Amino acid sequence: MEYIIKKNYKLDDCVKIFENNHKNFVFDKNSITDPTYTKFVLVDTCDKVLGYAVIYPHNDFITREEFECNYTPESNSVYIWHIIVHSDYCNRGIGKIINNAIKNEYNTCPIYCAIDTTNVASMNMHLKQGFKVVKEFKQLFHGVDTNFALMKYNFE
Ligand SMILES: CC(C)(COP(=O)(O)OP(=O)(O)OC[C@H]1O[C@@H](n2cnc3c(N)ncnc32)[C@H](O)[C@@H]1OP(=O)(O)O)[C@@H](O)C(=O)NCCC(=O)NCCS
Repeated sequence: MEYIIKKNYKLDDCVKIFENNHKNFVFDKNSITDPTYTKFVLVDTCDKVLGYAVIYPHNDFITREEFECNYTPESNSVYIWHIIVHSDYCNRGIGKIINNAIKNEYNTCPIYCAIDTTNVASMNMHLKQGFKVVKEFKQLFHGVDTNFALMKYNFE
């Protein structure tokens, strides 16, 4: 199966994928339609959306997320706000393809994400994609005590 990544494409379908598989790990549905964020949308050859990522291409993501984490990202940092693959298509390498498209686009920038450490699929995917944990922190997030791993991908 061939896949294509399109930017800011079929956002209503991305909203449906959010509703299908946010798993209470992803909360900010509005970020999908907010033009501040860049969306990487993966479609198949029939133009069906199977997954997407929301990118916040600025370095003030720690304050924007209201993270209680003492860390200063580099000025050119970008942040994966969230990434979701439709539940029918998980574990087929789609998350990896979206991740690689993000790396290709921002190939001179440190790329960050913050993962709930109980989210095994996302932790595994990012670790296997070369992200490294740079900070761990714990806080109340959407009413739940959450352990986060702040992860970074760097081309160096
Ligand atoms: C996290 C998520 C995007 C991964 O997408 P995916 O398309 O299923 O991932 P891939 O098939 O590309 O897998 C990438 C790697 O992660 C591993 N992985 C994926 N799902 C896994 C799971 N449930 N348990 C363990 N490892 C898993 C795969 O084994 C694969 O490793 P490999 O490179 O050695 O083959 C998907 O599970 C999802 O949408 N989860 C719900 C939403 C979410 O939690 N998003 C992340 C919050 S930021």
